[in-house]
Amino acid sequence: MATTVETITAVVPSLNLRSPANDTQEPKEPAYRYANLLPHFSPATYPPLTPFVHADPGARALAHPDPRSFLANASSVVDLTPNLGTEVRGVSLTELDSDGRDQLALEVARRGLLVFRDQKDFIDRGPEYYLTWGSHFGRLHIHPTSGHPQGYPELHLVYKDANSTFNFELDDSTTTTMWHSDVSYELQPPGLTTFFLLAQPTVGGDTLFTSQVSTLKRLSPQYVAFLRTLKAVHSGVQQAEFSRAGKRGGIVRREPVEHVHPVVRRHPVTGQEALYVNRQFTRRIVGLKREESENILNFLYDHIDRTGDNQARVKWSPNTVVLWDNRVTAHSAIVDYGESKERRHGARITPQAERPVPALDGLQLD
Ligand SMILES: [Fe+2]
Repeated sequence: MATTVETITAVVPSLNLRSPANDTQEPKEPAYRYANLLPHFSPATYPPLTPFVHADPGARALAHPDPRSFLANASSVVDLTPNLGTEVRGVSLTELDSDGRDQLALEVARRGLLVFRDQKDFIDRGPEYYLTWGSHFGRLHIHPTSGHPQGYPELHLVYKDANSTFNFELDDSTTTTMWHSDVSYELQPPGLTTFFLLAQPTVGGDTLFTSQVSTLKRLSPQYVAFLRTLKAVHSGVQQAEFSRAGKRGGIVRREPVEHVHPVVRRHPVTGQEALYVNRQFTRRIVGLKREESENILNFLYDHIDRTGDNQARVKWSPNTVVLWDNRVTAHSAIVDYGESKERRHGARITPQAERPVPALDGLQLD
């Protein structure tokens, strides 16, 4: 869908894309190539999400005789760390057929994170293609508060330039690091997630990832056995309040929700167990006294924060497309490029997956 500059300035005045009338002597800035994908904050509202049955594409690849054959023609496949992340060159995502996309989903589930370089074809295909791509992996999530390209509410944008930011900023914190699993407050949080940058600073703005499979494995078996018995409340209330306070785009399109998820979840395809709490959205452990809950959660958050053993860092280059499995990883932005005043503009395609499956059989969530 075409979006004019006039439309964007009307809905996001702070972007100030027009030159001031008294500034005609200045050389004109070239038009931004991805102006049609700038954040738009429509006043539309949406009803609560409804449950659905998720058929995981990775499960279909399990029966494949060689579920890594989609990488057969790659020029380079390099693991970022032993347990998390693989960087691929020489494979065009746009050329993967349905079977190849199923294999991709399984590989992302196993490695947690895949980084594909040189994906100009993918990025240039535009928003209709992004939706088609994401729909292969699950029902597309519409974010309750973030900006989206006009006409495409299923595309979640991150955006920052010299004048504007629409992301959860941590101005009063000693760090911008905030480990999280995306929208974990939903009943059926995302699974395989695709993210890419349309514009990036010259240096900085890397993204951190951690394996929640590995963070769990670093804990003692006795402690893990205890964690498997626990469930926690994840909440979207604070994120909505942040928007309602006039920050971000000031829009709450769907009323915030809270849901209970197991503290240790099992991936439905790989069977791997993963820690599933995060500092951004997890609020308390059900059934424990407040001090007990805070003690356990703070220990786990600190453990996630400081175990570089489990982490990988993606350094962006133009035309990179990253995929992660939101069920078994956590991630954090790094906002270290503010002084450069450069634009960072990213788009996320976010299919929802199953309601988290407890690692402990029979754990009641309702
Ligand atoms: Fe995120």
